[in-house]
Amino acid sequence: MLQPAAGMARLGTETAFDVLARAAKLQAAGKSIINLGIGQPDFQTPGNIVEAAIKALRDGHHGYTPAAGILPLREAVAADLQRRHGVEVSPERILIVPGGKVTMFFAVLMFGEPGAEILYPNPGFPIYESVINFSGAKAVPIPLKEDNGFAFSAEEVLGLVTPRTRLIILNSPANPTGGVTPVAEMDRLVAGLARHPQVALMSDEIYSQMLYDGREHRSVLHYPELEDRAILLDGWSKTYAMTGWRLGFSLWPEPLIEGAVRLAVNCHSCVNAATQVAGIEALNGPQDGVHEMVAAFAERRAVVMRELNQIPGFRCIEPGGAFYAFPNVSGTGLKAKELETGLLEEAGVATIAGTSFGRMGEGFLRISYANSLENIEEAMTRIRAWLTERGG
Ligand SMILES: Cc1ncc(COP(=O)(O)O)c(C=O)c1O
Repeated sequence: MLQPAAGMARLGTETAFDVLARAAKLQAAGKSIINLGIGQPDFQTPGNIVEAAIKALRDGHHGYTPAAGILPLREAVAADLQRRHGVEVSPERILIVPGGKVTMFFAVLMFGEPGAEILYPNPGFPIYESVINFSGAKAVPIPLKEDNGFAFSAEEVLGLVTPRTRLIILNSPANPTGGVTPVAEMDRLVAGLARHPQVALMSDEIYSQMLYDGREHRSVLHYPELEDRAILLDGWSKTYAMTGWRLGFSLWPEPLIEGAVRLAVNCHSCVNAATQVAGIEALNGPQDGVHEMVAAFAERRAVVMRELNQIPGFRCIEPGGAFYAFPNVSGTGLKAKELETGLLEEAGVATIAGTSFGRMGEGFLRISYANSLENIEEAMTRIRAWLTERGG
């Protein structure tokens, strides 16, 4: 009998991938499916970035690179952070990783062990809770509530901190809710954390360039008092439509960067060389592609909001960022998972049940508007028709 480590039984998953697979199977069987389940931009990576990767391969970038990433890329990341957040950081604190997920995995591995507690957003990106459980630490949910715009309450977060708390995970703009943490709430949290100097923070800011209606993103970088304990997670996947390239970066406090690089050496050695060169072009080249994509998302968001709020049993608060809406569907009388299954199999619309993002997601559905306006309108018509047929 094989004896896998106990942690394996505690490892969760990202069910969005299961829905994708089920949708693909139904499509292969000839059923028309509109995919509003997917968490990636429906745009191609801008051409200048693709060309930079091709050139890098032709120029012979075929070997290992330093585990932390090539210096010109880390310098480009530092310059980008300075441009966007007005803060000077040393490239020595930057680690290039294969996608945003790797930073959360490393941060949790670094702090998580039996006896430790890690706070994470719920509903939130499912990998946080999964990896915390895997590490043996106690996963302590930070409830994100609809009536608070799906932002955390600083008071509530601070009330969850105990002497065993090692790490707090934050995510704004958020998956799956599109919620954006107000600046004042972030200020209150940071002020309160002065009383808990042993607690590290990991701020997942992968959607920080997808904001609507003039909303402001307040990065952890804004707070000099967090410099020695805040880990920043960001990357290229969403901003530059590069999910399949596997490219992300993290900024680590000075005392942690050596350990983070060592985790990289033990895990993946380095990110593939040509992708790193493409990452430089993404940051230093024209940003028109980013602006066009965000403008398209803003237009779709308006349509999604209008339509969702007309579906019987649905109500949806306005998401401030990312490309997700998170309607409250409790008025349909169906559990989130029942709705996800019915909509996929009978209405031909892929969505994700709120419970895929933690138990506090019951009564909600995640709608990704990374799809064309035409498909979004058709999906909304199908959802409304399906619910009406069921007598909803
Ligand atoms: C909040 C959040 N963080 C991180 C990631 C992971 O990004 P990547 O594909 O770069 O690993 C995602 C992807 O969906 C996400 O939604």
